Amino acid sequence: MNYFDYKNGALYCEEVPVENIVRATGSPVYIYSYRTIERHYKVFDNAFKGVPHIICYSCKANSNIAILRAIGRLGGGIDIVSGGELYRSNAAYIPNDKIVFSGVGKTEEEIVAAIRSNILMINVESEEELSTIARIASKMKKHVPLSIRVNPEIDPKTHPYITTGLKKNKFGVMREDAMKLYDRIKAHKYLMPVGISSHIGSQILELGPFKEAVCSLKEMVKQLKEKGITLKFIDIGGGLGITYKDELPPHPDDYARIIEEELKGTELTLILEPGRVIVGNSGIFVTKLLYIKKVPGKTFYIVDGAMNDLVRPSLYGAFHEIVPVRYNDAKKINVDVVGPVCESGDFLAKDRDMPLVESGELLAVLSAGAYGFSMSSNYNSRRRVAEVLVRDAEFNVIKSRETLKDLIKGEKIPSFMEV
Ligand code: LLP
Repeated sequence: MNYFDYKNGALYCEEVPVENIVRATGSPVYIYSYRTIERHYKVFDNAFKGVPHIICYSCKANSNIAILRAIGRLGGGIDIVSGGELYRSNAAYIPNDKIVFSGVGKTEEEIVAAIRSNILMINVESEEELSTIARIASKMKKHVPLSIRVNPEIDPKTHPYITTGLKKNKFGVMREDAMKLYDRIKAHKYLMPVGISSHIGSQILELGPFKEAVCSLKEMVKQLKEKGITLKFIDIGGGLGITYKDELPPHPDDYARIIEEELKGTELTLILEPGRVIVGNSGIFVTKLLYIKKVPGKTFYIVDGAMNDLVRPSLYGAFHEIVPVRYNDAKKINVDVVGPVCESGDFLAKDRDMPLVESGELLAVLSAGAYGFSMSSNYNSRRRVAEVLVRDAEFNVIKSRETLKDLIKGEKIPSFMEV
């Protein structure tokens, strides 16, 4: 079942014509399907029913509090990487004991907030970070559950910008160093070793790297046990890929099977941090064609959405399917779909065969639910767009389009220049 589909020549999200939404919100706009998120979550959760597990949705993928609330209602927790994401999780009523905190550069302020909130665990990413946490824990006289994020040195064979488990990456701690850190944690009055984590990358399309990572973590859990350190949680991060074009990612059931096999016979609770696989294909980015511009050898579809709204094509050369909101089987022409931002790197698609459409028509950029809005910016003083959540025949604006006033919020002209 695809919740984004044409009915009578019009693109729908669930039971709502996309055009109706744009009429209400204007363009551009992100539109998410609640039923898709729900289905993806349930398929993923169900795949792991054979092992005790907690799904901590990686909210950097899409952090609107309505999306987080949807995850919370389905029983999920959250993987956070900042105090801001903790704040959002709280605003979405996510139970704190289902929150894990990763990230290489946690500030003291963020660590204090996490400790105060009694989150499930902090995933420590360096020795110095551990020292900081130890100092804060002693000062606060509070026990702090910790996990070490291990860098298992595994190549996930994905885009270099989203590879995280190689020696040259900034993430996690090397195995040997991790073992020493566990000793330090054990010896400390307020620190509790409860888990081990890793996250090897994103948009991974093969199971092998995951299997290797789990195997490596399991081996460490065993060694730690021999040293008298018994862990409860094994956190294998996120990273499962999705289909943008013609990729064939593993089904969550197959992903779960290889992990379950590795964990058989252990008493570990599995923590998963999926992001993209839950929300990626649950959202579209709708943009209006402003102008068609022809130069020798090239046609540009200039649209009102840009790299500041959806940066993945510009940043990673990522492919996103783009379809007209009104079904169109006109002859295809080769175009670049570009935005108004003053950068040649501002494009949503390059050399794409697309049907001939007229200025004023709406285009839907597909698979935009993950790392779309959450990576957006105000570059070129463009207002961040609206976000809409559809459920069945009903749609809700879950973030309104920024106003011009929002754009200069917090800015100030110093008194020496006042008029
Ligand atoms: N856990 C940790 C510690 C992570 O760093 C990430 C993603 C995830 C979980 C979730 O990974 P996922 O299941 O979504 O693959 N902006 C890039 C992706 C960056 C991923 C960063 N970390 C993109 O648009 O492709």
